[in-house]
Amino acid sequence: MTLGRYLSRTIVLATLMAVIVAMIAAPALALPSISSDAFLAVEGCGCHSGFIETWRDSMHAKALTDPLYQYKLDEAKAATDGALGPYCEACHAPVAVMAGEMMEGATLSPQGGEGVACDFCHQVTGRTDPIGNTSVVITPDGVKRAQWDNARSPVHETEYSPFHETAEFCGSCHNVNHPVNGLALESTYTEWKNGPYAADGIVCQDCHMTPGPGVTKPNPGVAAGGGPQRDHVYTMTFAGGNVALGDSALAEERLQAAAELELNAPTIVEKGQSAEVTVKITNVGAGHYLPTGLTEVRQMWLEVVATTTDGEQAIVGRHDFGSILQDSEGRSPVEPWEAVSFAVDDRIPPKESVEDAFELTMPESGEVELSAVLYYRSASEEMADAAGVEVPTTTMASVSQAIYGSQDIADEANTDSNGGSGSSTMLLVFAVGGLVLAGLLLVLIVSRRRSRAS
Ligand code: HEC
Ligand code: HEC
Ligand code: HEC
Ligand code: HEC
Repeated sequence: MTLGRYLSRTIVLATLMAVIVAMIAAPALALPSISSDAFLAVEGCGCHSGFIETWRDSMHAKALTDPLYQYKLDEAKAATDGALGPYCEACHAPVAVMAGEMMEGATLSPQGGEGVACDFCHQVTGRTDPIGNTSVVITPDGVKRAQWDNARSPVHETEYSPFHETAEFCGSCHNVNHPVNGLALESTYTEWKNGPYAADGIVCQDCHMTPGPGVTKPNPGVAAGGGPQRDHVYTMTFAGGNVALGDSALAEERLQAAAELELNAPTIVEKGQSAEVTVKITNVGAGHYLPTGLTEVRQMWLEVVATTTDGEQAIVGRHDFGSILQDSEGRSPVEPWEAVSFAVDDRIPPKESVEDAFELTMPESGEVELSAVLYYRSASEEMADAAGVEVPTTTMASVSQAIYGSQDIADEANTDSNGGSGSSTMLLVFAVGGLVLAGLLLVLIVSRRRSRAS
C-alpha cells in the first residue's frame, strides 16, 4: 500500500470514529453541567429515614455500583474506545455526569456515587422531547418537589409538582434508545403508554412506589418525622424483578404477582400414546411487557415437565421469552451498541396471554404428574459469573395435574389418595382417644386430691 492510500484510509476511519463519538456524546449533553454541591447527599435527607432505608435496598441506589452494570459498562467502553461511557452513566449516575465526576482523573463526590438518589429526583422540574435517554429538566435551586401541594418543611423549601405523579417522570430513563440509530433498546414507558394501565390512569408509581405488589393503595402514614398523617404516602421502594441485587423479598413478591398459568390436558392418555397439552400464560400484574426493560439480558422461560411415580422426569417442552438483537448484517445475538433491530421479540403485553401447545407421550409406567413452571432470572449464569455475582432463578408461577394411562389406573390412584384421607381419619381417632384418656387421668387426680383434703 502506498503512503498516500494508507493516509487517506486512516483519515476516512478517523472521521467516521469522530462522527460516532460526537453522536454518542450528544445525548449525554442533554444533561446540563451542574456541580454536585447543588444536590444533598442522601444522609442529608435524615427526616425521611424510613424512605432512606427502602431506597438503599433499591436498584436506584445501586445503579452505579451494580456489578452487572459495571461489567456491561466495561464491555461497552472497550468496544467504543470509551465513547459510550457518558451515555450509560447519564442514567446510572446522573449527578456524577452533570458534575463532570465521571471524567478520567476526576474524583467522585458522595452525591455523585449515589446512583439515582433523592435530591436528583426531587429537583426534576419537567422533561424534554422526545421522552427517553435522560430527558429530564433539572432546576438545581434546593427546592424539593413532589406531589403534595401542602407540604411544609422546617429545613427546605417545597413545591407542588404534578409532574412527579406522571409515568413520564419515570419514562425519561425507562425508555432507552440507541444513541446513534435510535433503536428502542428498552421501552418500558412506551409499553405502558400503549397498554391498558395507561388507559385506566394507573401509573408506574402506583405499582413500584408502594409497599406490596399490585396497586396497594391507600398506604396511610407519614412522609417525614413530625410530618402530618396522610391518607396515602408513596414509598421509595422502586422494586422490580432484581432478586439478586435489589430488595429480594419485594422483587420476589412482584415477580410472583406478574403472571398466571393455566394448564389444559386430558386426564387419560393411553400408554405409548401422545396427546396435546396446552399452557396459557397471562401477564396479570405487570403494567408493561413481560419481561420488560433489558430484555436481551433478562431470562424468562416456561418449562413443561412430566414426572413419573418413580420420580423420573422428562421435559415435554420449553418456551423462552425475551428478545435477541441483530446488527446491520443480520448477525445475532449482538451487543446493544451493535444492534440496529430485533431478530426476535417474544414477550407478553400487559393483560394479554400467550398459549403454547406441547405433545405429551405417556410412558409405560402409565402415570405422570405434568407440571408447567414459569421461571425468571435477571441475567444468564454466564453473565453473572463473569460479573462475579450470584443470580438466583425465581419461580414466577406453577401449575400441575396428574395424567393416567387408563381409567383403571386413575381409579386406583384415587382410591390410594382416599386411603391417604383414611389414615387421617385414623389420626383423628387417635387424637380423640388421647383426649378422652387425658380427661380420665385428670378426673382421677382431682378425686385423689379431694379424698386427701377431706
Ligand atoms: C435518572 C434515571 C431514572 C429515573 C428518572 C427513574 N429510574 Fe428507575 N432505574 C434507573 C436505572 C439506571 C435502573 C437500573 C439500575 C440497575 O439495575 O443497575 C432503574 C431501575 C428501576 C427498577 C428496577 C428494579 C429491579 O428490581 O429490577 C424499577 C422498578 C424502577 N427503576 C422504577 C422507576 C420508577 C417507578 C420511576 C419513576 C418514579 C423511575 N424508576 C425513575 C434509572 C431511573
Ligand atoms: C427515581 C426518583 C426518586 C427517588 C430516587 C426518590 N424519590 Fe421521593 N418521590 C419520587 C416521586 C416520583 C414521588 C411522588 C410519587 C407520586 O406522587 O406519584 C416521590 C415522593 C416523595 C415524598 C412524598 C411522599 C409521600 O407520598 O408523601 C417524599 C418525602 C420523598 N419522595 C422523599 C424522598 C427521599 C428522602 C428519597 C431518598 C431516600 C427519595 N424520595 C428518593 C421520586 C423519587
Ligand atoms: C400494574 C402494575 C405495574 C405498573 C403500572 C408498572 N409496573 Fe413495572 N413491574 C410490575 C411487575 C409486577 C413487575 C415484575 C415483573 C417483571 O419483571 O416484569 C415489574 C417490573 C418492572 C421492572 C423490572 C423489569 C426487569 O425484569 O428487570 C422495571 C424496570 C419496571 N417494572 C418499570 C416500570 C415503569 C417505568 C413503569 C411505568 C412506565 C411501570 N413499571 C409500570 C408492575 C407494574
Ligand atoms: C436512558 C437511560 C439508560 C441508559 C442510557 C443506559 N441504561 Fe442501563 N438501565 C437503565 C434502566 C432503566 C435499567 C433497568 C431496566 C430493567 O430493570 O430491566 C437499566 C439496567 C441495566 C443493566 C442491568 C443491571 C442489573 O442489575 O440487572 C445493565 C447491565 C445496564 N443497564 C447497562 C447499561 C450500559 C452498559 C449502558 C450503556 C451502553 C446503559 N446501561 C445505558 C437505563 C439506562
